[in-house]
Amino acid sequence: MECLVGKKSKILHRGLLDEWTAPYSGVCLDLGCGDGKLIYRMSGLKPDVFFIGVDAARENLAAIASKSRRSPKKGGRTNLAYLISPAESLPGEMGGIGDKLMVNFPWGSLLRMVLQCHGGFHEKLFKCLKSRGEVSILLNDSLYSDEDLIHRLDLPRLDHEYLQKNMVPAFLDAGFCDVSIQRINNTSLPFRTSWGRRLRDSHPDGASWFLQMNKTD
Ligand SMILES: C[S@@+](CC[C@H](N)C(=O)[O-])C[C@H]1O[C@@H](n2cnc3c(N)ncnc32)[C@H](O)[C@@H]1O
Repeated sequence: MECLVGKKSKILHRGLLDEWTAPYSGVCLDLGCGDGKLIYRMSGLKPDVFFIGVDAARENLAAIASKSRRSPKKGGRTNLAYLISPAESLPGEMGGIGDKLMVNFPWGSLLRMVLQCHGGFHEKLFKCLKSRGEVSILLNDSLYSDEDLIHRLDLPRLDHEYLQKNMVPAFLDAGFCDVSIQRINNTSLPFRTSWGRRLRDSHPDGASWFLQMNKTD
């Protein structure tokens, strides 16, 4: 997997990733991390946790990867890595590495993989986790005002019935347990991501779906 190290990138093998994460009490993955600012902030608030941001778009990660390599006095972080990878390639070097995995406001192929209940994506998420690992997923409802996009991505209608009847069984089949679904107002989202802030500002009366589940084995 390709890891952005400042302005350069290097191929990251599992041995090196294990060396980086070993001193920490936990590992948190942010899949489709966008500009990576959420885990940058979280890595400052939780210095005992190692954070890994993964996104397919190199340009999204360039600025924050550079900032994270500064000296600690200037905002650098030792408990943070940004990887360029499509979610399709998971688990790759990340098998069984995560205590927590977040997917916040996916779009494009990532959204399609999350919502479609075939194709093994839920199993890929499962394989990235340690036993007792936790997953959370935030889904943006306002996407559904863009009929063209929904048609182009061939997405199912996102409502409680779809989540309950299709997604919950797919996550259970993949091996997860305790799958919960909540609808949360955009002004009270659990994570302050850049996309979440945009949603809060553009759709303050809107809401998002928040899914949580655990791995048992
Ligand atoms: C709407 S943005 C959300 C970014 C961030 N999580 C946030 O909440 O601010 C969706 C992100 O998913 C990424 N993405 C889309 N498809 C992907 C895929 N197949 N693999 C990895 N990342 C993907 C995009 O590059 C984009 O950064």
